[in-house]
Amino acid sequence: IDFKIITNDGTHESMKMLIDLKNIFARQLPKMPKEYIVRLVFDRNHESMCIIKDNTKVIGGICYRKYPTQRFAEIAFLAITATLQVKGYGTRLMNKFKEHIQKQDVEYLLTYADNYAIGYFRKQGFYQEIKMQLDRWKGFIKDYDGGTLMECYVHPTIDYGN
Ligand code: ACO
Repeated sequence: IDFKIITNDGTHESMKMLIDLKNIFARQLPKMPKEYIVRLVFDRNHESMCIIKDNTKVIGGICYRKYPTQRFAEIAFLAITATLQVKGYGTRLMNKFKEHIQKQDVEYLLTYADNYAIGYFRKQGFYQEIKMQLDRWKGFIKDYDGGTLMECYVHPTIDYGN
């Protein structure tokens, strides 16, 4: 298992992986309009961390946007392919992601969690109580009423590695 940060850098390899990831998101997040998923996954302000099996096969990932001046990142989409869910990959992905984002000086993660994913996010250290000051994030991320806003504090020195 490998974890890779993929951006829309125009290379064939990145394109292929982002298309695979987009297809996993589209299937696992059926309430999300497909065009919206495509737009964000290929948007230059967004990055994705992919979990890759056997060197080439994307089995899941997380698409996010960093707001460096505000020192937070928003998780837009997160999913593991259906047949490999509840085997611990989602937890490993989140730990790797925290390890990565910590090095980028990000202090908080925000996400609009689907109602059935709230339990997963709680286990990953996300809370419905938002500790970040309102003016630091309000207006930066889009309001979205299809989910519950959750926040995770990323400690600057904890070792999230796994
Ligand atoms: N509700 C409650 N608990 C859950 C859920 C859930 N939906 N999914 C997993 N868990 C629990 C597991 O039981 C496990 O608990 P344990 O540690 O006590 O055993 C823990 O969370 C972690 O489980 P993993 O095996 O690491 O999770 P998995 O690999 O299945 O990944 C994920 C979790 C990403 C939510 C996956 O199930 C998935 O892709 N679901 C469909 C798509 C989805 O809901 N994505 C999130 C939408 S919100 C958003 O994208 C911003």
